[in-house]
Amino acid sequence: MTMNRRILLAKRPVGLAAQDDFSADEQPIPEIKAGEALLKTLYIGIDPTIRTWLSTAKSYLPPVEIGEVVRSAGVGRVVESKCDRFKVGDLVTQLVGWQEYSLLTDDSFATVFPGSINPRHAMGILGSTAVAAYAGLIYVGRPKEGETVVVSAAAGATGSMVGQIAKIKGCRAVGIAGSDDKCRHVVENLGFDACINYKNDGFREALRETCPKRVDVYFDNVGGWILNEVLGRLNMGARIVLCGAISVYNAEKKPPGPSNYLNLITVRGRMEGFNGMDYWGKRPEISAELQRWMAEGTMKNYETIVDGLDEAWRTVNMLFSGENIGKLLVKVAEG
Ligand SMILES: NC(=O)c1ccc[n+]([C@@H]2O[C@H](COP(=O)([O-])OP(=O)(O)OC[C@H]3O[C@@H](n4cnc5c(N)ncnc54)[C@H](OP(=O)(O)O)[C@@H]3O)[C@@H](O)[C@H]2O)c1
Repeated sequence: MTMNRRILLAKRPVGLAAQDDFSADEQPIPEIKAGEALLKTLYIGIDPTIRTWLSTAKSYLPPVEIGEVVRSAGVGRVVESKCDRFKVGDLVTQLVGWQEYSLLTDDSFATVFPGSINPRHAMGILGSTAVAAYAGLIYVGRPKEGETVVVSAAAGATGSMVGQIAKIKGCRAVGIAGSDDKCRHVVENLGFDACINYKNDGFREALRETCPKRVDVYFDNVGGWILNEVLGRLNMGARIVLCGAISVYNAEKKPPGPSNYLNLITVRGRMEGFNGMDYWGKRPEISAELQRWMAEGTMKNYETIVDGLDEAWRTVNMLFSGENIGKLLVKVAEG
């Protein structure tokens, strides 16, 4: 192989992504210099945050510019190296972008994972998803045994981990998801106590029935009206963990704020946003805990894999139609 296939942003999507929002090209694979290594992409992670980077909305990273490779986390194998930090054969995650090869340097924000682990796990259950789910729930939500933890997008990458960790910590775990099949999966395969299909009528009644002692921790992945409904059913001292708001990522205008927020005053509650990357230093200990839970069988891992870099743009839309179960990945190469 001498060429590097890349997917670039051609124009900013309006609503869902469309094929002509992107273009593809092939460039010679860069020659590495002293202090650099070459990473061959195996999988890219399709994360909702990509949609925010395609817009001009303020985010924790600047927008992807028109003509740039689409930004995306990914995992790859080092295939050439002229630096001390990365050796040929290392499994490494970094912001690889939608391309087949990316450069690493001694000061890259990149992480070497043990070669023994499944590369896909470096993206999800032992990678950034795990850190966001664990840190958001444990350090921000601070659940106590016996409390009720509610999580939205419960069949997705982050939400499925949050509910399982809540169960391991002795909490009641209630999921919210977008179909009866997903709700069955959340209860039967992931071990949640209950799950509400938010697309059915009667959400408020369902929340009352599944959370008889009200909600102590709400791990919010979706924002919008679901956040507002849960704000109306809080227990004293409740904690709202703002992880994401996928229901508004395609919106052209900012949505109205949640009118039930005043309830936080009544219950002396706390609503706090967080970014999993702030806890990246804790990844080794979080990973070790998760590996132990996986070995014990108390933590199950699900993934949805789509083949081919050229499918990446379409795959982003799957997050919004809810076609994924667990971590959504695009496979770029074997390895
Ligand atoms: N703060 C951080 O550090 C951090 C880190 C990672 C992720 N996040 C955020 O966490 C959230 C989940 O990310 P993820 O990677 O784990 O994705 P995910 O949950 O695997 O996929 C997104 C899911 O969102 C649901 N969804 C889509 N549109 C919705 C809507 N309008 N209302 C309700 N649910 C909707 C879909 O499931 P249904 O079929 O159930 O609708 C879909 O499967 C996102 O908001 C993301 O931005 C934040």
